[in-house]
Amino acid sequence: MKKYAFVTGGNKGIGFEVVRELAERDVHVFLGARNEELGMQAVEVIGRDNVRFIQVDVTSSESIQHSLEQISKVTDHLDILLNNAGIAPDFDVAPLKMELGMLKKAFDVNFFGTFQMIQAFYPLLQKSERGKIINVTTDMASQTRFANGEAGHLNLLAYNSSKTAANSLTLTFGREFGEDGPEIFSVTPGFTSTDLNGNAPGGKTPAEGAKIIVNYIESEESYNGKLLDTNGIMPW
Ligand SMILES: NC(=O)c1ccc[n+]([C@@H]2O[C@H](COP(=O)([O-])OP(=O)(O)OC[C@H]3O[C@@H](n4cnc5c(N)ncnc54)[C@H](OP(=O)(O)O)[C@@H]3O)[C@@H](O)[C@H]2O)c1
Repeated sequence: MKKYAFVTGGNKGIGFEVVRELAERDVHVFLGARNEELGMQAVEVIGRDNVRFIQVDVTSSESIQHSLEQISKVTDHLDILLNNAGIAPDFDVAPLKMELGMLKKAFDVNFFGTFQMIQAFYPLLQKSERGKIINVTTDMASQTRFANGEAGHLNLLAYNSSKTAANSLTLTFGREFGEDGPEIFSVTPGFTSTDLNGNAPGGKTPAEGAKIIVNYIESEESYNGKLLDTNGIMPW
């Protein structure tokens, strides 16, 4: 059976590199991007027949539904859903200075977007022999690591709380899916220099960050309901 993957936010950064890696492994990849021009350009750069552009803005229910319709015209099953699209709007905003709108914006993409993607694509993933839903998370969303000071010095209320909430989607959907699948887990690529953090120096390259995610996509082990980093299971 042909293998199909859908990667949101696939036009650049870590998502783009995951698309490239999967495509090289002969997976048929739907490269999701909210901006058509950027998405088409990314597909062109990869330059393979098994990658095609799908427009998706994860903050729009209509756009998600439309992407589902487009994908359903090509395949009756999806093996991999990578909820990679994400924003971190508050790199230079202290919690006390944060406006409500910014917090809501982060939740719209990182939490409500991921939530809607899971619900919409679940039926296609259920039809896969071994469907996997991967939510891209961050070390800073591990409450234990954050509280212990093991997640760096940043104190990003909007980014961290929306990603922590998204981690709880992994836990709760994981419990609902149970043994019958699909599997759902969260993976952090760790600090990676991308547009998300203004290409801050000292991070992994996007390709290195992507590799960590691809390793879990390819793993034979079951990680349902788990939060993972490069070394294995992370604390909540
Ligand atoms: N970089 C890190 O250090 C790091 C560490 C841990 C986790 N992560 C996570 O890794 C994921 C990828 O981030 P990145 O570092 O590769 O950042 P990036 O280069 O900024 O890429 C983010 C992607 O998400 C897309 N996106 C944003 N809002 C969207 C929306 N409403 N609908 C659809 N797509 C949307 C962006 O599209 P546009 O180009 O249109 O804006 C872009 O394609 C994120 O979930 C991030 O939280 C990153």
